[in-house]
Amino acid sequence: MADLNELSEKLALLKQEIEGEIKNLSNSKVAFEYRKGLMDSKTGKIGTLMREMGKIPNELKAEYGKKVNEIKMWAQDRFEELESKLKEAEMAERYNSETIDVTLPAKMRPIGNLHPNTQVRNQIVDIFGSMGFEIYEGNEIETDYYNFSALNIPKDHPARDMQDTFYLSPEFLLRTQTSAGQIHVMEEKKPPIKVISPGKVFRSDDDATHSPMFSQMEGLVVDKGITLCDLQGMLDVFVQKIFGEDTKTRLRPSYFPFTEPSVEVDVSCFQCHGKGCKLCKGTGWIEVLGAGVVNKKVLEGCGIDSNVYSGLAFGIGIDRIAMLKYGINNIKLLFESDLRVLNQIND
Ligand code: DAH
Repeated sequence: MADLNELSEKLALLKQEIEGEIKNLSNSKVAFEYRKGLMDSKTGKIGTLMREMGKIPNELKAEYGKKVNEIKMWAQDRFEELESKLKEAEMAERYNSETIDVTLPAKMRPIGNLHPNTQVRNQIVDIFGSMGFEIYEGNEIETDYYNFSALNIPKDHPARDMQDTFYLSPEFLLRTQTSAGQIHVMEEKKPPIKVISPGKVFRSDDDATHSPMFSQMEGLVVDKGITLCDLQGMLDVFVQKIFGEDTKTRLRPSYFPFTEPSVEVDVSCFQCHGKGCKLCKGTGWIEVLGAGVVNKKVLEGCGIDSNVYSGLAFGIGIDRIAMLKYGINNIKLLFESDLRVLNQIND
């Protein structure tokens, strides 16, 4: 290209052509490809001009190079600006189209609540916990010794019958009472002892108020000078917190091999307040638990000197308390997991 004027005209036209094309470049990718095409040393319009520099006579080379370089720099700046504008617009559009409407109401998931048994167990644990009781977790599989012999239940006691107890082997069985835990605690700890032990127990028993598996809460206190009065004092606080401030307790003589004396504890009917109703079978009182002063034989069997220490024990039926408290008349309702029943019970 001998004539630099001719080159100038050619470059001006090229600029116009590029500007014209730019209008059609609809996105950053197309713009990038177009720019790449322009600069290609074999096929591109600017690339070719650069390559042809070699053929330009020496005296024109400097001027030629300057002009071609100018258009190259112009194109580069022009495209950088264009591509960044296009990219910005594309990003803005993406943000728009991918926006999540955080004001949309979320899908409501049903909120569950604790099972009535768990609610009652937690309440009992809180009440005795506030009186300084520790929690002991007993074993569901026990030996005959812990479940019966050590609790002064003789070999010929009806409770040992196959009809009542699930035996796993002649020696092992599913505990029929959390009282078995008392022995472990007294073997492991020295007095003063103050524990509660919640857990499942198993008996071969099945009707409206009995289930083969149910839950109990054992209580045990061993210290110097413990009497039945301490028991009644603690149980008064317990029943008032569970059934209401004006609930009273009544102790009736009873028999358990591991306590002497033994008592059955009644509470004043929290439904009719003593007048007599269906719940308390017209008596004004409802039986809620068994208790007593720990039999000296049991203490001695665990290596505790019964001349120095005495103890009290109680066994609460958790399911029974739940049934009374929430007006459930069939224990099966506690195990059937019917949400229509369970959802109604939330303290
Ligand atoms: N273990 C007894 C039962 O299952 C309940 C019981 C009664 C526990 C008196 C005690 C107690 O600790 O002193 O029927």
